[in-house]
Amino acid sequence: MTQLWNRRDWLQTAGLLSVLPATSLLTNRSAWGQISDKLQTLTTDIPNAEPHVDQLIQKWITPIEQFYIRSHAPAPKIDPKSFKLTVEGLVEKPLSISYADLFDQFPKVEMTSTLTCAGNRRTELMAMKPIKGVPWGPGAIGNAEWGGVRLSDVLKKAGVKPKAKHIWFEGLDDIQRDDGNIPFGASIPIGKAFADSDAYPGALLCNQMNGEDLTPDHGYPLRTVVPGFIGARSVKWLGRITVSDRPSSNHYVSGAYKLIYDNTDKEWSQARPIYEYLLNSVIAQPKPGSKFAPGNYKVKGYALPPGREGVVIREVQISTDNGVSWMPVHLTSEPREYCWQLWESPVITLEPHQTITVRAFDNAGGTQPQHIEWNHKGYLMNDWHQVTQGG
Ligand code: MTE
Repeated sequence: MTQLWNRRDWLQTAGLLSVLPATSLLTNRSAWGQISDKLQTLTTDIPNAEPHVDQLIQKWITPIEQFYIRSHAPAPKIDPKSFKLTVEGLVEKPLSISYADLFDQFPKVEMTSTLTCAGNRRTELMAMKPIKGVPWGPGAIGNAEWGGVRLSDVLKKAGVKPKAKHIWFEGLDDIQRDDGNIPFGASIPIGKAFADSDAYPGALLCNQMNGEDLTPDHGYPLRTVVPGFIGARSVKWLGRITVSDRPSSNHYVSGAYKLIYDNTDKEWSQARPIYEYLLNSVIAQPKPGSKFAPGNYKVKGYALPPGREGVVIREVQISTDNGVSWMPVHLTSEPREYCWQLWESPVITLEPHQTITVRAFDNAGGTQPQHIEWNHKGYLMNDWHQVTQGG
């Protein structure tokens, strides 16, 4: 019942309640598919949308209506009252847990972490050579407070067998592909699944985002969130967990989300699935691609530490002479593993056609490369980010 009330709250916020009778709350596709006007829609048939990056960096916690949406199929309609999460595979006791039991039986935890798509900043790679895929700018990222239960607690209840090495997640979506419809799937190594310290948190099974029920496009009623891993490992509309001795055979593990350069069968079969995201930083203000005038600006943006245990941002620097000289900027939020950090420069004067460049350093000795090699799917773009006066 609580869920329905919260659905109503969400619809009320979206201004939709007045047009929907109560019985259609879980079935009306137009309500499910409503995209916030704070997002720029990148595909029309399936919701893929990102915020304006200059607006995105105004808050450390990203408001839900400004949080990017990346889906491969429309949000399925799932009624939490009849929903069951199954846990199967290499376990002593397979489970089929109702939504209510999941949140009654396991301790509730909260975790703040940044979710980012492996395709964030893809348009910059597309400018080098064409890539098939959603043309993401630098806004396919957001930082949220996630609420749910620990995956490790659920796995402990099922009793994982010694041969287990990977945990598979499967969504309840129905993705149309030329070779037939499939659900979205992901898997994570078992070490990550059982991690549960602050420094190295494992995955959560979440029903809440920023203290509210998930919205349909963010995975209502249940999703995984895997801190430090690319967004593709955080499966929305989670329906099944399978414990296995190998990575998932789902297309989105074996046939996507890998760094591929030549696109040969051999390369695809040998490449490792991408798990952790990389160190990155972006100029968000002045807005990339906008025709801002020459003049005085505080340059602002975000920096993301790599998704590895114990690693945070140490310094962010900008350059106005294409990397010949650099100045450190002020970090306006606290350093935190698995969370982005916001930054701003003192006021600087930008001449016509002048370029600003940003790069970040982490506390493990890492920094961003000046250039990365183009890759076939346009993933993990993290070279020095630049914005030029005049667009
Ligand atoms: N889960 C399902 N079931 N279906 C999907 O298409 N997209 C993945 C992931 N989980 C996806 C999914 C990708 S590629 C990303 S980047 C994140 O969800 C995006 O999460 P968000 O839409 O809540 O921002």
